[in-house]
Amino acid sequence: MRIGYFQFTPRFGEVSQNLDRVVETLAQAEADLVVLPELCASGYQFVSQQEAIALSEPVPDGPTTQRLIALAKKRRMVIVAGLPERAGVACYNSAVIVGPSGFIGCYRKTHLFFEETLFFTPGDTGFQVWDIGPAKIGAMICFDWYYPEAARTLALKGADIICHPSNLILPNCPDSMPVRCLENRVFAVTANRTGSEARSGKDQLTFIGNSEVVAPRGTILHRAPRDQEELYIVEIDPADARNKALTPYNDLLRDRRESLYR
Ligand code: ACM
Repeated sequence: MRIGYFQFTPRFGEVSQNLDRVVETLAQAEADLVVLPELCASGYQFVSQQEAIALSEPVPDGPTTQRLIALAKKRRMVIVAGLPERAGVACYNSAVIVGPSGFIGCYRKTHLFFEETLFFTPGDTGFQVWDIGPAKIGAMICFDWYYPEAARTLALKGADIICHPSNLILPNCPDSMPVRCLENRVFAVTANRTGSEARSGKDQLTFIGNSEVVAPRGTILHRAPRDQEELYIVEIDPADARNKALTPYNDLLRDRRESLYR
């Protein structure tokens, strides 16, 4: 199975140009699964709730999801992409999962970071896993990595690959995802963005790049540069995530002692 990410610099508010970049780039990708950054359609640094409402779209009927569905059908690949989602009066920081057969699902970010708490509603979908044929995939968004429960829940639900759209600012995630993978024996694709935003006099946010694909034993198969755009695809065997035996006596998930964890 060929999996990877497209790390790039979305321009704030330029939804159709950001999607043009995605369409142009994925036209050259031979892949089964491509993960795009968090809020890659809209950009990240919102300054008001009105702005978040104006840039958010219904899922799956909004133009961004529809365009991604058309792309996934044409390129015969599954795409996981971040966008601001409008649902009634709520705006969620969401990721859509689309594939050759159309819309697959939507994950709404559980753990909102920094000023996201001003503009978005905490997600209510929980951590979900979808069977896309060659693998079961789960989704979490950026800051969710800080909560090991997120990756653990996805592993317990059977995810082989964690798709992790991100807009990372803090430095620690790229060195932490190998631990998430090791402790759950799963693959992860973290798709971060590059560039910076400093909107309407706000402090500049610089995104750290360093997207990566990590294998179930914690090996970093590839890490992107901090400041350059990159499409990266690697061949993996999702079955590597299914054997949770650590030794003949230890099985990673089976041996959890849930009654002692409270
Ligand atoms: C983040 O959750 N965007 C850091």
